[in-house]
Amino acid sequence: MSIDIATETELNTELILDAGTAAALFLEARTANSFTDEQISDETLQAVYALTRMGPTAMNIQPLRITWVRSTEAREALVINMAAGNKEKTLAAPLVALLSYNPRWHENLATTTPHMASKVASFAENSALRQTMAFDNAHLQAGYFILAARSAGLAVGPMSGFDSAGMDQEFNADSGLKSFLVVNLGRSNGRIDRARLPRLDFDAANTTV
Ligand SMILES: Cc1cc2nc3c(=O)[nH]c(=O)nc-3n(C[C@H](O)[C@H](O)[C@H](O)COP(=O)(O)O)c2cc1C
Repeated sequence: MSIDIATETELNTELILDAGTAAALFLEARTANSFTDEQISDETLQAVYALTRMGPTAMNIQPLRITWVRSTEAREALVINMAAGNKEKTLAAPLVALLSYNPRWHENLATTTPHMASKVASFAENSALRQTMAFDNAHLQAGYFILAARSAGLAVGPMSGFDSAGMDQEFNADSGLKSFLVVNLGRSNGRIDRARLPRLDFDAANTTV
């Protein structure tokens, strides 16, 4: 038996978002491959971070680190490490964010999670656990980042097709951060390159036990 919500009207009666907001964040938003030429202000990217950081992470560790790639030199260094099919659109995007995770998140524990600050030494010894927690929680934060950027009126083009070792050599050599996602950002030019790919039905992706 399918219990899919069949229409947008049915869906909207279940949501606390107004229909326009649900459309802008989820239902109408598309992954962007090109943008208008409008430049994105520092205030806008601060707003994106202000929302992103509020999404929950395990123990509040917040391992996501964002490098906003603005200068021509930095953009070219980034594009060298992108997969062939991702180079041109990344070079043309008004703004690019390189998302990395910080495997040494325990060093901030006194700030992020003061009631667990006494555990710093034990986390320091367990790099495998730190790595897993950093990877998992930074990917969660990347999802918050995408929705935060859409909330600030930006179109978003996330890409994992790049050489992360090369990217880390270029951007993270001193910090020890690990890059995992490049996100092109700008204002929507309304261009849609292909029809929406299908999403799985409720029954295909959900089980109630
Ligand atoms: C983690 C992640 C990695 C992706 N990597 C690439 C990529 O390397 N190149 C690309 O062209 N699109 C990439 N995409 C875009 C996806 O194919 C796209 O978001 C998905 O098909 C949904 O498209 P829609 O939002 O228009 O429905 C990536 C998306 C995500 C979330």
